[in-house]
Amino acid sequence: MKPKLLQLIHCPTCHSKDFEFITINENQQEIREGFVICRNCQNMYEINNGILNLLISPTPEIISEQQGWTQLEKAVQNTDELMLSLPDAVGENQSYWQSQAENFHYMWDQLALDGNEVVLDLGSGRCWSTRFFARAGCYAVGIDILQTKYVGLLTSDIYINNEGVFFERLCGNMNELPFRSESFDVIFIAATLHHSSSIVTTLKQVEMLLKPGGYIVLINEPVARIMSNKKISCPEIDHGINEHVYWFAEYLYSFRKVGLKVKLYPFIGSYHPIISGINHSLVKRFPQKLMKRRIWPPLLPLQLILAGGILNLIAHKPSFSEKNLQ
Ligand SMILES: C[S@@+](CC[C@H](N)C(=O)[O-])C[C@H]1O[C@@H](n2cnc3c(N)ncnc32)[C@H](O)[C@@H]1O
Ligand SMILES: [Zn+2]
Repeated sequence: MKPKLLQLIHCPTCHSKDFEFITINENQQEIREGFVICRNCQNMYEINNGILNLLISPTPEIISEQQGWTQLEKAVQNTDELMLSLPDAVGENQSYWQSQAENFHYMWDQLALDGNEVVLDLGSGRCWSTRFFARAGCYAVGIDILQTKYVGLLTSDIYINNEGVFFERLCGNMNELPFRSESFDVIFIAATLHHSSSIVTTLKQVEMLLKPGGYIVLINEPVARIMSNKKISCPEIDHGINEHVYWFAEYLYSFRKVGLKVKLYPFIGSYHPIISGINHSLVKRFPQKLMKRRIWPPLLPLQLILAGGILNLIAHKPSFSEKNLQ
């Protein structure tokens, strides 16, 4: 953690912005071990391996999710090499990651970052995506409830030590985010919003953290088709991880409810072989401008409502001038 991070956070206990810190061990990049102390309520928060822990009183749901990911990590063989190759992955892991990688690269190409952005990666997990923003020059912060190496925040040292990038890592809850209002230009969310039991609650928190004119990039969120009972079975659920599948209408309603304007992007990863195959070839064959104006706006909602699939979108928070015009 760099001391600069204290300008973005508030105390998770009393919401004060007045902190001091104690450094026990530091390297050239950051404080590796130490404490952040709230001057108002005197609570102390640990910094371990550079990760600031602001997760206070985790709910049973969070504990179950942490345990689930930690068990699943033990069931497979993870390596630093695999982490460094994400999201594309290597060897036998490639097919598992292919869809996520394709959607990520497609959406990444849509972003015009100038490198001055302050970025939050919500539910960053291993932080493979956080380091893309750091590479682009942004001041990036990954937040997750999970620390376990190879699935959680402790993985981040692999990127920091091997790729010469730096980004902040913070342990905290997406439903009680310990950040000050209007701190971020971009909030990136990959395959994490559906881990919330109330997407409106999470999006309300997230919207508050965006600067006016800022935006959310949401990728790889599963969508249930209309009339489905949304019941899913997968190893994650068996291990107590909070997997939900929401309808497209629920996502749309939640974004509208918190005042964010949404623009949909095609899902091209292979989760839904027929539709993603169609989208893939549409993306390749036709000019992007035409697709964005004429084809995607009517086609994507239909796909997501009738067949379900994967939600990729950018949600915009109006700037001051846009708000005044409304
Ligand atoms: C499917 S993983 C996605 C991780 C990463 N974004 C990626 O694309 O690889 C979902 C992540 O959400 C995190 N998560 C679940 N509940 C959370 C909560 N309440 N607050 C913050 N993160 C949470 C999990 O720990 C996990 O890392
Ligand atoms: Zn406090």
